[in-house]
Amino acid sequence: MNRKYRKTLIAGNWKMNKTPSETKEFMTAFKGMLPKGRWCDIALCVPAVCIPAAVRVMRETRVGIGAENCNANPSGAYTGEIATNMLVDAGCKYVIIGHSERRAMGETDADVNAKVHAALNAGLIPIMCCGESLEQRELGVTNEWIAMQIKAGLTGVPEEKIRKVVIAYEPIWAIGTGKTATPEQAEEVCESIRTVIRKLYGSKNARATTILYGGSMNDKNAYELLAQPDIDGGLIGGASLVPEKFLTIIEAANQPTL
Ligand code: 13P
Repeated sequence: MNRKYRKTLIAGNWKMNKTPSETKEFMTAFKGMLPKGRWCDIALCVPAVCIPAAVRVMRETRVGIGAENCNANPSGAYTGEIATNMLVDAGCKYVIIGHSERRAMGETDADVNAKVHAALNAGLIPIMCCGESLEQRELGVTNEWIAMQIKAGLTGVPEEKIRKVVIAYEPIWAIGTGKTATPEQAEEVCESIRTVIRKLYGSKNARATTILYGGSMNDKNAYELLAQPDIDGGLIGGASLVPEKFLTIIEAANQPTL
């Protein structure tokens, strides 16, 4: 982390977990535990039907609610899809875009790019995900692959909007597996992502970009991961479902930084 130049963000991704009633229960418990200090931003990205309950409980707190996906079109005949202005109207601040679980369902880099534009135009903060498979890591092409995903996802995003984008590095082999990247492995890729941003947008913007790590980040390993200079927070799956664990990760963000 580096609190001098950029924001730290601890974000939960609930995936397909919790009902609206369970959301209300979680949010009420979590709200009661929130620390007074403001050392990082906090987001909880929840299933679409849980957004109203989450927004209601977290109103007037520092916790921003987010969605886990959006459609890039403003409106129209897209059965089952949700547009960015609907998310904004429902009270969302963030939206996760291009998670590997959605890419596995067929989402392409072009889709990710269109969604990033739609989110930015609506005033949402996109949390754009990238990550390599185990096969790609073993082939030694991780940094090239990630650079390609970042460049494709950010195509056409103008310089004045890049600071609104959060990037999440999530190695696919570390997601939900309990197999975390080592702090050194995660740092290496996050640093190389910052280099890509530097080439595209210059060093001031690169320095100001928030880059998260995700993949089996939990209350036990968060401190060490967050101690890395280019890891500005986390995108947390399983451990964001339990208020105490999520809180411990937030507390791990309260450590001395550069
Ligand atoms: P886990 O923390 O459960 O490994 O999930 C990570 C993730 O995919 C967050 O988006």
